[in-house]
Parts: sequence; structure tokens; C-alpha cells
Amino acid sequence: MTTTARPYVGTALDRVEGMEKVTGRARYAYEHSPDELAYAVPVQASIARGEVRAIDVQAALTIPGVIAIIWHRNAPRLAPADNAELSVLQSARVAYRGQYIAVAVAETLQAAGEAARSLSVDYAGEPHDTELRADHPGLYRPEKVNAGYPTDSEHGDPDAAMEAAPIRVDATYSTPAEHNNPMEPHATVARWDADGLTLYDSTQGASAVRATLAALFTMPPANVRVIASHVGGGFGSKGQPLAPVVLAALAAKHVTRPVKLAVPRQQMFAVTGYRTPTIQRVRLGADVDGRLTAIVHEAIAQCSTIREFVEQTTTPTRIMYAAPNRRTTHRVVKLDVPTPSWMRAPGEAPGMFALESAMDELAIACGIDPVELRVRNEPDADPESGEPFSSRNLVACLREGARRFGWADRDPTPGARLVGRTLIGTGVAASTYPAYRSPSQASARLEPDGRYTVRIAATDIGTGARTVLTQIAADALRTSPDRVTVEIGDSALPPATLAGGSMGTASWGTAVVRACEALREQVSRSGDLPSAGLEAAADTKEEVGAQERFSRHAFGAQFAEVGVDVDTGEARVLRLLGVFAAGRIVNPKTARSQFIGGMTMGLSTALFEESLMDREFGDYLNRDLAQYHVAACADVRDIEAVWIEEDDPHLNPMGTKGIGEIGIVGTAAAIANAVHHATGIRIRDLPIRLDKLLR
Ligand code: MOS
Repeated sequence: MTTTARPYVGTALDRVEGMEKVTGRARYAYEHSPDELAYAVPVQASIARGEVRAIDVQAALTIPGVIAIIWHRNAPRLAPADNAELSVLQSARVAYRGQYIAVAVAETLQAAGEAARSLSVDYAGEPHDTELRADHPGLYRPEKVNAGYPTDSEHGDPDAAMEAAPIRVDATYSTPAEHNNPMEPHATVARWDADGLTLYDSTQGASAVRATLAALFTMPPANVRVIASHVGGGFGSKGQPLAPVVLAALAAKHVTRPVKLAVPRQQMFAVTGYRTPTIQRVRLGADVDGRLTAIVHEAIAQCSTIREFVEQTTTPTRIMYAAPNRRTTHRVVKLDVPTPSWMRAPGEAPGMFALESAMDELAIACGIDPVELRVRNEPDADPESGEPFSSRNLVACLREGARRFGWADRDPTPGARLVGRTLIGTGVAASTYPAYRSPSQASARLEPDGRYTVRIAATDIGTGARTVLTQIAADALRTSPDRVTVEIGDSALPPATLAGGSMGTASWGTAVVRACEALREQVSRSGDLPSAGLEAAADTKEEVGAQERFSRHAFGAQFAEVGVDVDTGEARVLRLLGVFAAGRIVNPKTARSQFIGGMTMGLSTALFEESLMDREFGDYLNRDLAQYHVAACADVRDIEAVWIEEDDPHLNPMGTKGIGEIGIVGTAAAIANAVHHATGIRIRDLPIRLDKLLR
């Protein structure tokens, strides 16, 4: 069983499931079809607030093939949930337009759809409030914000320091609601049998779905199995179980048959989460040399009436720049809107748009180059916690980016470069994302034939997780990737954290390395290989809990060149360069895809993405990809991602930081800053639409 061992971490291994995917053999949740399958089509509330008094199901039940109409009067009861989004069909209350109020189950998708459309719902409507405003009387201070961060932070006397500062920026930025649109919409096939519940589910985390569904249906987790072999994107929207998977399980239980439920694209704009709109005030005080004396970042966001979710918008500001006086705050208001949730870099993405736009405004106010301004405000240690950074290479990213981008000969004068009828400008912004790690378990097995099998309930949502875990395992086992099979995407495997928070590789990789090390121990002790093979397991709970106190973050620098049409106001991104410092890069090929994918999503944030609230109906109006615009190939012209290798011993056995989210952070600010450089117009409210540039 000896093969040429070498470090495979760092090599551009092709996706191990690539052939399965391109030949169509890889099966996604919706492609599973157990015998006796029935189809479910959910029904959404058409009022924004009130109650369902009654549903007339008579017409629906006469449609050939219809099996059941399930609503709160006849739905199976669920155990109460912390997240009220999961209490599907448990009460008459309607908390937002688009909330699930019923589900039609039929022999065919067509019959279920027809039944869903034929329901006559009697509502008791109430006046609704769906508008986020900076002066909303319902704004309050939540106990904490997403990911457990403190709501506010304060150091020194930021108000006095602002007052005393010779150079000040005081500006309000806003970002719209945005909706995740992974290629594969959410889908579940649910089947009950004597052993309990099996779900083929499009999720970022099978273990969490298992735990949540087991609790809702009052079963031991061992009676729930969640299979997510392949997932077509999620970006956070599949990071936790939401209403659709519960509805599928509930419908299958009610009709005592397997049920297939796919969320249509249009329904995703209400039931699968979205990025809250934000209103952010940033105040920066600096001396004449551009050294920050005060940083104040205050954010306002919305959540629904049934679940508090508060995006951590100002948390990146706590670590970015040195300044003795500082304050960050979050306030939220409960509105009659769908519940916001995770969307790629929740917090960092909108928060850094505001901070990095303000830094550009400060650079102009001080007459200092924006790259130099950032370098000048580089902190020695985490400016709020005082902890040392495990590694921090923002300056190296800025310098390397400036060199590659050709920043040195930039004329800072706005509106000075007209080529034909196009104004050209360049902009820069910094990027950051925390390097998290969560406990996970894994097992490693030496098979009788000398091959290895590694098992962990990780998920590959298109990122390359299966591939990088194969590389990590091969190195830990001192073998080659072709001798290692990594099994993931199944809650029956050792439990693991979700594919989220850019922490998959760090968390799962640690467990895989520890299991492989334990297996090598066993092999060296056992002499002859027993006929059944050898197996070892690992649980990283203790290791992760005991890690030393460091401030762990990835950093990056985003550079953009834009062209703005003088006559039409259309902005085009001509060039994007991202330089990242995110620890060791396990696989340059899949990492590049992650970085440029994030940057593309940032470009999309800057120019296109905007969910529009219809105040009268209390709902988001644009609900498909014709009306909710995301960047297409033609929008992405010249995009490049490179990285600086970091050797950071304070992270995990691989030395990795996360890369899934940092690519989106700072991109929109770099583009907005470039638009200002091109035109002299500062756009503080995303997206940068042509009407804003023409007015
Ligand atoms: Mo990501 S928003 O943590 O899936």
C-alpha cells in the first residue's frame, strides 16, 4: 500500500466528482424518486399580516389525482421551535406575504399545482408595515447579532474625537434587500417508514437538518436521515433548515407516502431568506495625515415579526483600522416582512460597502492615495479585543494589488478620463472575513484492499469540498488522492458542521486530519492488517474549544476599473482584481473559482441586485431572474483573483482560512469608488443604477 506520497494540499486536483457531474450521474435532491411518490406544491399567503380564517378545499379535492390539501386545521402537529419559521401550518397567523399557509399533494406535479391554485382562502387581513426607515419608532437594540457577536462596541470617546478631528467624513449609505438565487432551488424528497424519516434535501448541512427535523417531529436524531450528495449552490440560503423541508416532511407524514417538494424560483423570494436592507451611518475622524482618531459605524436592519435575525453589519469595522475612539452599533425593527437570513458574507458584504466607501471619501478629503490611507491605519493588534492577529496581510494584498493593477500612475482627479463617450475610473477597497472553525467528527478506514475511506457529514455545495478533503486526507495518510474515497453529504456519517461561514474546510479538514492520524497510529501498532480492515475516528470538539486566543481573519484588496457611458449613465466593470491572504490555499483551481465567484457576486451587488418592496401589498415585487438581475457572463469582462500564501500556525492543521465569502467583501465599494473616480458622483445607495448617475 505504498504509493508516492507528496503534499497534495496546494495542488490543482480536478474535482473528484467532476465526471459524475458532467455525465449527469450525480444526483441532486429533486432527482430521487422513491416508489409511491406524490408531489407537493406549497401555497403562499396573499396578505402581509392577519389570519387565515378558512380555506375552501372542495374544488381542489375534486381534481383528479389530488390526494390532500393540508393547512393549519388538519396539519400534523409539530413540537414548538425556537425558529418560528419552522412552525409550518401550525397556526392561523400570517406574518408576511408569501408565507406558507397550505400545501397541495397529488399524484402529479400538474395536479398538485392546479389544486394549489384552486384554493379559496378567506383571510382576516390587518394593516401591515413593511418599510425600513432610519426613523422607524420600532427600532430597538437586540441582545446580540448574528453569529453571537455583541450588538454594540465602544472604546474611548468617539463623539468628542469626531468633534476635535480636523478631517471628518459623515455619510449615510444604504443597501437594498437581496435574494440568494443558487442555480438549484431548494428541494426535498421526504419519505417516512418504520425507521423514521429519510430526506433527500438540498442543504448546506445534513447534520443540522437531522437535528432540527428530529426535534420538530419529536424523534431521536437516529430516526432521521438526511442525504445531500450534491448541492447546486446555497450561499447561506440552505445553511439552516427553513419552512420548505419541514413542509415536505409534514406532507409526507400526512399522506403516508413519499413526497417531492421543489421550491419554485418565484417562491424563493419569500420563504428561503434574503439579505436584509441596511441603512448605515459612518463617521470617520482623522488628523491631516489621514490617521484615524475616530470611527463610528451605526447600522439599521429589518427582521420579521416571528424571528429575530440581525445581520452583523458593523462587525468588520471592529477589526479593520486602528483608531483610539470607536463605536459600532446595530438596531433592528420587526416588520411584516419575510424573515431575513444568511447571504454570502452576511454583515461583511454590506458593512464593508459602507466602511470602504467612507474610507475612499476620507482619502479624498485628506488628499491621500486610498491605498496609502489604508496602510497608514493598519493596526498592530485587533483594535477592539486587543488580541494579536494570527496573521494579517492586508498591506501585502494592497501593495501586490496596486502593483499588478497598475495603480502607481493613477491621476486621482475625478471625472478626468474620457475615452470616446465613456468616463473611466479606478477604485480600491479592502476585504475581510473571519476565519472560523466549528467542531466536527470524522472517521478514517483502511480497507482490506489497501484503499482508504474517509467519512464525514460535510457538504459540497459546488465549492470543491469533496475534492479538498480528499487532498487533505491523502496528505494526512501519506498516500495519494486516487487511493482515498471521501464520503460526505449524509447525516448517517460522523456529524459535522455546515458548509457555511467559510469554515467548512477548516472545520472538516481538522476532523479528517485527526481521524487519519489516529488511523496511522493504529496501522503502525497493528502489524498485519486485519481482514476487516482498520478504522479510527476523531471528534474535534475539545481541540476547537481549546484554541488559543487570536484574532483570526482573512484579508484582501479589491481593485476595479469601470467605464460609465456619459449619455446613458450605464456603468460597466471593465476590470476586477482581487488579491487575498487567506492562509494556505488547498486547491488553486477550486479556490480561484470561489474567489472569482464571490467577486462576481460583489459586482452583481454593486450594479444589479435589488429586491423591491411593494408597500401596498407588502411584498417583494421582483421574483424571478428576469426582474431580479444577477451578473451574467457578459457583465464580467476581465476578472482575476490571486493570493498571497500565508503560513499561519494558529489556525488548524492545514493552515487554512476560509475562502467562500471573502471574494464578495469590498467588491461593491471598489466599484462604487471607481464610479466616483470616473464621474465625480458618489453613489451611497446600492445598486449603482444608471438613473442615479444621470440625475
Ligand atoms: Mo454562508 S452566508 O455562511 O452560507
